[in-house]
Amino acid sequence: MSGAGTVKLKINGVEVTAYEGETILEAAKRAGIRIPTLCYLDGLSNYGSCRLCIVEIKGSPKLFPSCTTPVSNGMEVITDSERLRKYRKMTVELLLSEKPHVCAVCVANGNCELQDLAKEFGVDHLRFDREWTRQKIDLTHDFLVIDNNRCILCTRCVRVCDEIEGVHVLDIKARGKDSQIIVDMDEDWGSSRSCTSCRKCARVCPVGAIYVRDKPISETKDKDIAQFIISRRRR
Ligand code: SF4
Ligand code: SF4
Ligand code: FES
Repeated sequence: MSGAGTVKLKINGVEVTAYEGETILEAAKRAGIRIPTLCYLDGLSNYGSCRLCIVEIKGSPKLFPSCTTPVSNGMEVITDSERLRKYRKMTVELLLSEKPHVCAVCVANGNCELQDLAKEFGVDHLRFDREWTRQKIDLTHDFLVIDNNRCILCTRCVRVCDEIEGVHVLDIKARGKDSQIIVDMDEDWGSSRSCTSCRKCARVCPVGAIYVRDKPISETKDKDIAQFIISRRRR
């Protein structure tokens, strides 16, 4: 890849060619360089909330979310360093302390992206006090469940419902620690007339917050669903 519409940058010292307007994360993925992510999902718009994908850019003291930062010519990016690992570990600890994430009793135990990141960054205890309030568990749908006590507010479910299924049933209400996922105008899921029961929200939830009742998460989860549908639509 070269010529008009492309830029050259370095990622971890390796020269990479990217398309103008691409994000650092996209350029790194194509070059085979992994950057940890959590709210990002291939095929959905970028939300940039979790900050797991932070990178260093030479010449700046700031850290940048690679999923929302565009590439530019001559940019020098570092995706892995002691400083980045320290911040990523702290981010995972903060997420774990915000809600009652008790893996031993969670439906997603063994199939949870937050649990995988905790293992990757060596989180074996929390340095922060757990501070959470009890949030709504909606069991009214025939087979789908939302347990807001496990939700990390990544909005993957909101985006897949809006951008891929095209119905925008889900949204977030309130702010800060009171934020939670709602159905329609904060109604019970079982009474929703806009939900098509497609299960896409359950397929993309990275933790055990939305799931199909009585079905192992391993059989429901499909991180490639959004990208798969988009690629079929383009044919
Ligand atoms: S089942 Fe489908 S339509 Fe219903 S909330 Fe989930 S993604 Fe949206
Ligand atoms: S329910 Fe799952 S997918 Fe939706 S915001 Fe919460 S953690 Fe993310
Ligand atoms: S993956 Fe980039 S901010 Fe979440």
